[in-house]
Amino acid sequence: MKSKELYKLAKIYQNNGREPIIFDFKDAYSSLEDVNRSNNINHHYIHFYPGRIYPYIPRYILSLSELQTINGVLLDPFAGSGTILLEALINPYVQRESWGIEINPIGRLISKVKVTVFDTSLVPDYLRELNKIYHSKSINTEEFIPIYDKIDMWFSQDAINKLAKLKYAIQSLEFENDVKDFFWLSFSGIIRKVSKADPYIPPPVVLKLEKYKNTPKFNKLKEHLERAKTPNLWKIFEEEVLSNCKKLNAVFKILRDNPVEGKIIWDDARKIKKGILLQRGVIDKSNSCILPSDSVDIIFTSPPYLTAQKYIRTSKLELLWLGYSIKEINELEKKSVGAERIKVSDIEKLGYKNIDELVEKTLYKSRERALAVYFYFKNMIEVIRELNRILKNQGYMILVVGDNKVLGEWIGTYRLLADIVTNEGFRELVMLKDTIKSRSMLTRRNGSGGLIKEEYVMIFQKEG
Ligand SMILES: C[S@@+](CC[C@H](N)C(=O)[O-])C[C@H]1O[C@@H](n2cnc3c(N)ncnc32)[C@H](O)[C@@H]1O
Repeated sequence: MKSKELYKLAKIYQNNGREPIIFDFKDAYSSLEDVNRSNNINHHYIHFYPGRIYPYIPRYILSLSELQTINGVLLDPFAGSGTILLEALINPYVQRESWGIEINPIGRLISKVKVTVFDTSLVPDYLRELNKIYHSKSINTEEFIPIYDKIDMWFSQDAINKLAKLKYAIQSLEFENDVKDFFWLSFSGIIRKVSKADPYIPPPVVLKLEKYKNTPKFNKLKEHLERAKTPNLWKIFEEEVLSNCKKLNAVFKILRDNPVEGKIIWDDARKIKKGILLQRGVIDKSNSCILPSDSVDIIFTSPPYLTAQKYIRTSKLELLWLGYSIKEINELEKKSVGAERIKVSDIEKLGYKNIDELVEKTLYKSRERALAVYFYFKNMIEVIRELNRILKNQGYMILVVGDNKVLGEWIGTYRLLADIVTNEGFRELVMLKDTIKSRSMLTRRNGSGGLIKEEYVMIFQKEG
């Protein structure tokens, strides 16, 4: 490991007038001397998730010599699919206990499955048992179908019946919780594959074949729609399960001997508590308690994008099949930082000149957009205060943030967030800039939030 790498980067950054340093995280990680470095990142791809962070960012940052001296708890308050949580656990230099907070139950489920070891050699036996139930004649599927009046807009009747049977089969088996969650995750992973939704657009939109006429995607999409009519559901599910097992096996080998563990502790980053994660991403809040001040050593997170990523809406079909009602899904959307559809409310000054000016400027053109911008920063201020409370003195906070357009103009989201963080008692050490190649972005097209093409990795330290 090279020594004082962070110190050197910080020096370059300060000497160059705080201009973000263009950085290739994969190259930088690959050039580290040392033992047992792995370039495998397959374990992160057991289920689709929008806006995932590039795994080499946490892999490299957590390998910096300065961070190696810290081996306490890492917290990711916007854990998504758990990329950072898992990378903290398997870092080749220091393995850290990691805690995650995430509003989207699908994200909580993916994170949990990724960081929780179970005996995958028993999966073929489990599949046999499931298969027996799935193919038994006497299942009344009715009560396993989501209560949603538009369900047949998204699925054929045949797919609905088969999914309901599979849901019944998983639910009725008495596997231990961790194994069941692995099967729920694989179940969730095939929902879109047997639906009529356009596979190229993350938030569900009914696939319109005409749109793809004369494009190379046409034949593949035609097949997709054909398959959605009468899917061979068991085969698709079995393939998903076995492929997920394969992806997880390598990482489980490391986790099995690990002295530290990862877990999801809560759902909302604006008020951080500790509850207990049950099955299917549900959090038991009955005995929850506020997370004490000064209780974590590193905060590492990629916060939601401002109005560009529709995390809950993207997971809608999966959430429905996992048992969440439309009402609950709408509630989750409202609690999400970066939500777009905000009901009328007063706009007050936030006390940050640049942000207040941006809100005011946006207000001239669109009240709806101005509200979204206002609430994004209002929520982020709340979260950053909460993070300041729970981080130990001298602890590091790493934020990975993109930029986006609001009504056609780039707004420098990362700089605006950096202003908040430094104002709340952190020292800005360095800012690195990574160009997003082909990550699972939601808005590859120029959508309402604009195309996000750069990510800024900002490292701060809490001043004690
Ligand atoms: C950029 S994504 C994180 C992606 C993650 N780093 C990964 O690799 O999968 C931001 C996440 O913040 C979550 N989120 C939004 N509002 C939240 C809130 N109030 N509390 C906790 N999580 C929230 C979103 O659901 C989304 O999963």
